[in-house]
Amino acid sequence: MEIWIASTNRGKVAEFESIFEPLTKSGWKVKTPQDLDTYYAPEENGASFADNARLKARSLRAVAPAGVWVVADDSGLAVEGLNGLPGVHSARYAGPKASDGENRAKLIKMMALKPMPNRNAAFVCALHVFDPQGVEHRFEARCEGEIGKTEAGKNGFGYDALFIPHHPENTGKKTMAEIAPELKNKLSHRGQAARQLLALLLK
Ligand code: IMP
Repeated sequence: MEIWIASTNRGKVAEFESIFEPLTKSGWKVKTPQDLDTYYAPEENGASFADNARLKARSLRAVAPAGVWVVADDSGLAVEGLNGLPGVHSARYAGPKASDGENRAKLIKMMALKPMPNRNAAFVCALHVFDPQGVEHRFEARCEGEIGKTEAGKNGFGYDALFIPHHPENTGKKTMAEIAPELKNKLSHRGQAARQLLALLLK
């Protein structure tokens, strides 16, 4: 069986590959749009993570082989002190072609504009899935935490170096970029949502 992930983000794909190891160990293949010439990422103009995940899943479902699983992830960071921003704009917060570093720099700047910013935040992940029969499934998960004042750590991607997850196993108040990738997958929004999907795949 094949599962196709509608993402060209190396960081996301690496996390899915690690979480889906129980599948690959029993012969499943994980594929991405890079295995196709014909996939065009859709414009992400949905109002919610779930809407954007559906748009991406539909685009890939239209060009992927028949009889496979297709999953799309839309995710991002919602900061309480910024009224939920960057939210669905997380990938493009500092502009349409912004790098992860530019997005983090903008977040630090926006937080610094407030005298006493509420630093509470959550990473959110919505998954939209087509099973081999074309039936759609949805999963969503959050990881609560706070925004650090400065960047720390080199692991992960995106806003990881600024996000400190609130979790009993994160005893040293480390950022997502400082903790081991295995711990990130255990407590992260994507890890939690992908394990809900994994339970369906292993049924
Ligand atoms: P998407 O590819 O449109 O879903 O964009 C997701 C964006 O949200 C990424 O480019 C990151 O900036 C951010 N993001 C989502 N998940 C994570 C994560 O696990 N760590 C850090 N940043 C993330």
